Amino acid sequence: MPQQIVLRACANLYKNTEQAPEEYTKLLTKAQQACNSAYAPYSNFYVGAALLLENGEIITGTNQENAAYPSGLCAERTAIYWVGANYPNVLIKAIAVSARHAGENNFLGVSPCGSCRQALLEYENKQKKPIKMILEHAEGILVFDCIADLLPLQFSDKNIEKP
Ligand code: THU
Repeated sequence: MPQQIVLRACANLYKNTEQAPEEYTKLLTKAQQACNSAYAPYSNFYVGAALLLENGEIITGTNQENAAYPSGLCAERTAIYWVGANYPNVLIKAIAVSARHAGENNFLGVSPCGSCRQALLEYENKQKKPIKMILEHAEGILVFDCIADLLPLQFSDKNIEKP
């Protein structure tokens, strides 16, 4: 009989904004505000990401779509690649993500796609320090302690090292 193992992601749920640390709620607000500058004429789904750096700066990114659909990029990668290019040696403490439909005011819980998780993981492994992930959720605010928790059985630089 095979042994069953459980691979799962754990997160902390803050039931409302008063319960959550201000650092996280502020970052989430920045992600929500960033949605206004999404370029999403094809999906009309506006996504904002906000990255908190160790120097206190907050860098935002939004989804950038393209008439050649696969050439577009998600908000999370727009933001993290900008940080990688402009602040290669500054640690990233946290990322918050939010989304809304064009013309609507209510923000939605959005969970980063697999490609964004992989891209974020690269920078977490590079800096050797966890990056927290803050997400909207139907029941409140979800905080993951690190990106690795969102990618059980991660593929990383370790996998391509020669034994
Ligand atoms: N999108 C993001 O920006 N981040 C995600 O994590 C999921 C999806 C964008 C890509 C595309 O512009 C739109 O949302 C609809 O998929």
